[in-house]
Amino acid sequence: MKKEIKQLLKSVNLELRRVTSEMKQEERELQFHQNLYQKYKDFTMIPEREFVDNLELCRRHTHIKGVIVECGVWRGGMSAAMSEVLGRDRTYFLFDSFEGLPDAKEIDGNQAIAWQANKTSPGYYNNCKAEEEYAHKAMQMAMVKNYYTKRGWFSETLPFFPKEEKIALLRLDGDWYDSTMDCLVNLFDKVVPGGIIIIDDYYMWDGCSRAVHDFLSTNKRVERISRSLNGVCFIYKH
Ligand SMILES: C[S@@+](CC[C@H](N)C(=O)[O-])C[C@H]1O[C@@H](n2cnc3c(N)ncnc32)[C@H](O)[C@@H]1O
Repeated sequence: MKKEIKQLLKSVNLELRRVTSEMKQEERELQFHQNLYQKYKDFTMIPEREFVDNLELCRRHTHIKGVIVECGVWRGGMSAAMSEVLGRDRTYFLFDSFEGLPDAKEIDGNQAIAWQANKTSPGYYNNCKAEEEYAHKAMQMAMVKNYYTKRGWFSETLPFFPKEEKIALLRLDGDWYDSTMDCLVNLFDKVVPGGIIIIDDYYMWDGCSRAVHDFLSTNKRVERISRSLNGVCFIYKH
């Protein structure tokens, strides 16, 4: 009996140590992600909690091989921080018009049209127009060598995405219906099985969620739409 109790205490102790070490590891990672937010906060318009959740999603996918693509990078802060989690030895593609957002249409919803009309609101960010130089600076701060910025409208640049490339993680942040649909039509098939597609605006803008639903439905896709703790939408590719 004594021997059994000793054995039980030993295994409880081992389990406690395992849980404690896992918790410490999680705390270290959270701190690292929060530090990355501080490093890149002038290069992103994503709020800290969502930014950190994006990095947490990246952390869970470091084992997936392939290139990383962000469509709608603005000043490149999210791509740069992702590279610090996913590794500098990969290739990164940053797509953006660097001219700001196209005009919102009826399909994007009244809120989107009203947001774009209100040019003096603090969240307007000059219609999301950014100098391309910022994106280069962010990627240089992350010390990524293999990266490409692709300037222009998604409908014109994405069809030229290299055929041979396989995408491990695709991050969509183009806000509107057409922008999101252009990305899905051109890049969804290039995401490897087990890869992940993060969709920044799914819970924010009607046009984005409509595009995701239309694309999945038209292509008879069975992928589920998931949500992180702080509301980041993502899809695991089957
Ligand atoms: C909300 S911002 C992206 C925010 C950025 N990911 C960050 O970390 O802060 C949206 C970006 O998408 C770009 N964009 C939207 N639709 C586009 C399209 N159809 N073609 C090219 N760029 C587009 C805009 O120029 C803008 O920089």
